[in-house]
Amino acid sequence: MSIVIAVDGPAASGKGTLARRLAAELGYAYLDTGLLYRAVGVEILRVAADPADEAIAADIAREFCISEMNFADPALRNETSGHVAAVVATHANVRAALVGLQREFARNPPGSAPGAVLDGRDIGTIICPGADYKFFVDAAIEVRAGRRAKELREKGDPSIYSRVLHDMKERDLRDRTRKIAPLAPAADASVIDTTNLSADAAFALAMSLIK
Ligand code: C5P
Repeated sequence: MSIVIAVDGPAASGKGTLARRLAAELGYAYLDTGLLYRAVGVEILRVAADPADEAIAADIAREFCISEMNFADPALRNETSGHVAAVVATHANVRAALVGLQREFARNPPGSAPGAVLDGRDIGTIICPGADYKFFVDAAIEVRAGRRAKELREKGDPSIYSRVLHDMKERDLRDRTRKIAPLAPAADASVIDTTNLSADAAFALAMSLIK
């Protein structure tokens, strides 16, 4: 059985950075599950369908095969796909279509890796409730919006902090209050607050909890 590490948290909390570093340090496979929801969003926009259309979104999700997906597609990383992802992620049938792939990745990590690190919103609660280690990474929303605005500016997007903060509040609310698999720490998760913690310090803390 592979060792599974679940890393959940809201946008720009530092969960992706932490999850990638844990995977690199331990030699585990890494899956950014947000990209699955983003890919559904990108595809639904490409076929000019309405993200609120659950049946179409679920049909798209059912076609996915992790090994064939192009996670390097820049369209998966922009603000539009993040926003549409949060809409399609509220559909029960989309989530149901994506559960199997994620569990399979955790059970049988690619490349015969001895373990898997999955980051997302519901890994410790729904996808892998039996994960060996669970982290919930959080930070004050103003700090998260500041990080995201900086990241976007570095990519050449002249983003305004107030707009990013507004969008992030909306997405957080959607993720935390949706009926299915809302964003919440698992009861047995270690919470890491990165409001005043560097990426190095968060990594060191997580590693000390694992050891
Ligand atoms: O993590 P990321 O910002 O890429 O996720 C985009 C959106 O996908 C989130 O706001 C959330 O609505 C959804 N998501 C989810 N469950 C996951 C990962 C992402 O609902 N495990």
